[in-house]
Amino acid sequence: MNPTSLNILVLFYSQNGSTLNLARQIARGIESVAGCEAVLRTVPKVSTVCEAVENEIPDRGAPYVTAEDLKNCAGLALGSPTRFGNMAAAMKYFIDGTIAQWLGAELSGKPATVFTSTGSLHGGQESTLLTMMLPLLHHGMVISGIPFSETALSRTQSGGTPYGASHVAGHDGSAVLSAEENELAFAQGKRLAELAVKLA
Ligand SMILES: Cc1cc2nc3c(=O)[nH]c(=O)nc-3n(C[C@H](O)[C@H](O)[C@H](O)COP(=O)(O)O)c2cc1C
Repeated sequence: MNPTSLNILVLFYSQNGSTLNLARQIARGIESVAGCEAVLRTVPKVSTVCEAVENEIPDRGAPYVTAEDLKNCAGLALGSPTRFGNMAAAMKYFIDGTIAQWLGAELSGKPATVFTSTGSLHGGQESTLLTMMLPLLHHGMVISGIPFSETALSRTQSGGTPYGASHVAGHDGSAVLSAEENELAFAQGKRLAELAVKLA
């Protein structure tokens, strides 16, 4: 991390890689803004049974998010796959552990944005995105979406919503990001970074 840059945290959970692909594209949008650096972080899985804790460093991919990442970020892009019309338990579990940050108002006044991936077109993208905003509002974050001046919003035949970037991965999760999904994720990251610069 460059100490002179504004760090924008891209915090996601992804089991099969679709939400990760959105996260990477949002990160590219963030880094298109001068002086901004995207910090990609993930959260560990949760289980309904007691089991050995995972290694402190994941075997592959982005590192796990830390309290310092939250404290030091100038903005937050939060991503989760849709699970029954809502965010995945692993992300919700992580957010439920952010009491110290809430008490310390560490995220208050910082810009935030949300993104998701679903299996099906009408499988609950909007409900997931809107409910992901709720804890961020409790934290006092300034929520930003994607305006319709981004013309891909009107053209898309798959993902991409005014509430945040999204992807329709298909029943087997194999669909790649469409041109519009890519464009909107990039625009979302860029907008978040521009807001962070203005608010910093
Ligand atoms: C337990 C479970 C619940 C799911 N619920 C939904 C759902 O409500 N709507 C939907 O369209 N897809 C649903 N899916 C599919 C995932 O949202 C989809 O595969 C997503 O792209 C996975 O993202 P990832 O590749 O980042 O893990 C569900 C998948 C699982 C495992």
